[in-house]
Amino acid sequence: MKTNQFGRNGWTPDRIENLNDKTFIITGTTSGTGFEAAKILLSKGAKVVMLNRNSQKSKNTIAALKQELGNDIEVSNIRIDLAEQVSVRKAALEVLKNVPQIDALICNAAIAQVPKQTFTVDGFESQLGVNHYGNFLLQALLYPRIEESKGRIVTVGSMGYNLGIKNIQFDDMNWDRNYSPNGVYSQSKLAQIMCVYELQDRLKKAGKTDVKVYACHPGASRTSLIKTSGSLMTRLVWQLMKLSPLVQSAEKGAYPQLMCATEPDLDQSGFYGPTGRNYWTGPVGECKLEPHAKDKVVATKLWEVSEKATNYKWNI
Ligand SMILES: NC(=O)c1ccc[n+]([C@@H]2O[C@H](COP(=O)([O-])OP(=O)(O)OC[C@H]3O[C@@H](n4cnc5c(N)ncnc54)[C@H](OP(=O)(O)O)[C@@H]3O)[C@@H](O)[C@H]2O)c1
Repeated sequence: MKTNQFGRNGWTPDRIENLNDKTFIITGTTSGTGFEAAKILLSKGAKVVMLNRNSQKSKNTIAALKQELGNDIEVSNIRIDLAEQVSVRKAALEVLKNVPQIDALICNAAIAQVPKQTFTVDGFESQLGVNHYGNFLLQALLYPRIEESKGRIVTVGSMGYNLGIKNIQFDDMNWDRNYSPNGVYSQSKLAQIMCVYELQDRLKKAGKTDVKVYACHPGASRTSLIKTSGSLMTRLVWQLMKLSPLVQSAEKGAYPQLMCATEPDLDQSGFYGPTGRNYWTGPVGECKLEPHAKDKVVATKLWEVSEKATNYKWNI
């Protein structure tokens, strides 16, 4: 294992200096790692624009953050449902109208382990539709503002990228043939991560070095993920696992995305998360990334397929 560049305890938010004048956009802050990331960024003086689908939960989230950090924090919400491309476009327009600077866009929101094949309104299998196509389109639409701001894009992936078929099932993107809750979740997370490294290549080729793009994962963290979308059995198993030391707090799960959003001079080629056993818990740093996540032929095709599916061409 590589020596952790941040020392024995790995990266922690103590490394974040004052974030006054910085603005972060985070998807999915009503619970889990997104909530914890928003809280830590706000506690360091940043402005946070949350992108959430549920207005009532967003209000409750703002109230909870204010109760903990005080009424002076600068936090707001723009509604987005990543399962609807129209909603992503609407939210992006609102961001572009109201948020003059984006220091980092953190694509954190996701669903997981959807028991039966389900479709978004756009006809995508739901996990791929929300986790990959939703976040892909959002990044593309906000890219111009991120570029103006010399900002970052952070994608929250999963070690699940290394489970499943380790390839993209181009001939059956909706998994009509062989749907499985975990197989498709893994596929969606692999797609998200592959597009991070593909975007890096595209930016480099275009001579655009001001925007940085990172991939990370939260290990195994005590959040609402499986509770929201998993089957009864998966939920029960996960509830038991959450009680064990194999799973860490949601706050620790937020560290990798915070590191990628704020740490100066972090190498973009890495994949960041907890570095302990199975990369589930432990000090945050660089994790080994298996080569299929950077397969150039697959990534190029995935990018083209994703631009076509979202009907939007990145302006790079
Ligand atoms: N927890 C883990 O062990 C683990 C492991 C590997 C990877 N991850 C990754 O970590 C990230 C954060 O997940 P988490 O564990 O913190 O789960 P979580 O507690 O369930 O949080 C997920 C967030 O995403 C939001 N969301 C879901 N569908 C959405 C949609 N269609 N549009 C907009 N927002 C939506 C949820 O909003 P609602 O409140 O409205 O549902 C919630 O705010 C995800 O990318 C996940 O894949 C987690």
